[in-house]
Amino acid sequence: MDISSRIKGFQASPIRRLSPYAIDAKKRGIKVYHLNIGQPDIKTPKEAIDAIHSYPADIIAYGESDGDIRLREGLAEYYKKFGVKNISAKDILITTGGSEALLFSLMTLCDPGDEVIIPEPYYTNVHSFARMANVNIVPVTSILEKGFALPPLSFIEERITSNTRAILLCSPNNPTGHIYSPSELETILKMCKEHDIFLVVDEVYREFCYDGKKFTSVLTYEEYADRVICVDSFSKRFSMCGARIGAIVSRNRSVIKETLKLSQARLCPPSVEQYAACAALSAPDTYVESVREEYEKRRNFIISELHKIPGVKVSRPNGAFYLVAELPVENAEDFAIFMLRDFNVDNKTVMIAPAEGFYESKDLGRNQVRLAYVLNCDDLKEACNCLKAGLEEYKRVRKSDI
Ligand SMILES: Cc1ncc(COP(=O)(O)O)c(C=O)c1O
Repeated sequence: MDISSRIKGFQASPIRRLSPYAIDAKKRGIKVYHLNIGQPDIKTPKEAIDAIHSYPADIIAYGESDGDIRLREGLAEYYKKFGVKNISAKDILITTGGSEALLFSLMTLCDPGDEVIIPEPYYTNVHSFARMANVNIVPVTSILEKGFALPPLSFIEERITSNTRAILLCSPNNPTGHIYSPSELETILKMCKEHDIFLVVDEVYREFCYDGKKFTSVLTYEEYADRVICVDSFSKRFSMCGARIGAIVSRNRSVIKETLKLSQARLCPPSVEQYAACAALSAPDTYVESVREEYEKRRNFIISELHKIPGVKVSRPNGAFYLVAELPVENAEDFAIFMLRDFNVDNKTVMIAPAEGFYESKDLGRNQVRLAYVLNCDDLKEACNCLKAGLEEYKRVRKSDI
């Protein structure tokens, strides 16, 4: 008996696949600082936690496939804060996390063998969603030396073929922190119109922009409404990753109508968590603003700590809560394993995500890691100390191996 070649072609997530080493380290009494995953240590709004405790029904029943109408209406209202007008509940499908929204978008827009253009490095799990949908990712590379700025837009246009169905952006970007400017968005939208393709923008980090940088939602471009899909999520904004609530937003009626078939097949998004998500929307604006300030502080802190480590190169992200760092090693995955399996400082170590899996192009990112600055500054300090000491020890050990 054999299993499918499709599943064999999947990559194990570079964010999670080293977890067995971390579990083993913890069993040996080692504290592991997780910079590998975007799991914030920030508290979920009290409104959401209270809603879970006071869930009003006796049965946790199936809900509507397109999601709870109160939540869809609440989201439409929420988007107004970002200058998004003329969106209503009928343009919104609640999904099981932004993850499902990404998968559904690809399944709805593309036939097997179709292509989607994505700037790399990109959110690595999109690789698996593309495989599920039998879609080919066509990368456009951005580089650390240029702060991961978008390459000239002509590079994107050159990659459009008769198989291209969409361009997929993430703004603010995971892992680079790039925020697409209004003029970049407008140029890309024009390009999409000219080539009659869709633009999907993953905006799950929209609240987290730094240095006074402004976020522009793709949903504000009403002129292009029929070719735009926005992917959204409650996971990061309200620090409720385990709730698994996200959304697809599009004014294109047939996109919503057709995607609903996928939604019906999986019956409904989680009921209790939608109730909690509704409550999260009523959290005061100061909640999100204070979380944004905290991440900005953490970004500044981790960058200054990383600058102190010889041989480490780092970009300065404008948004989200990740960065890509180049390490003075040949193979970042080997180093990440070393940190978990062979190294600790006073019974502490750090888990990092090798960045190679965030690239589609072969051999890029081998000496890079993605770091999530989701821990408080004291923990980030400890984590960076471990990283510094680990790099020194790794260099010494590898030299003596040769
Ligand atoms: C860019 C981006 N999109 C989507 C997701 C999926 O988030 P969730 O499924 O928890 O909503 C993530 C999670 O880290 C992400 O970083």
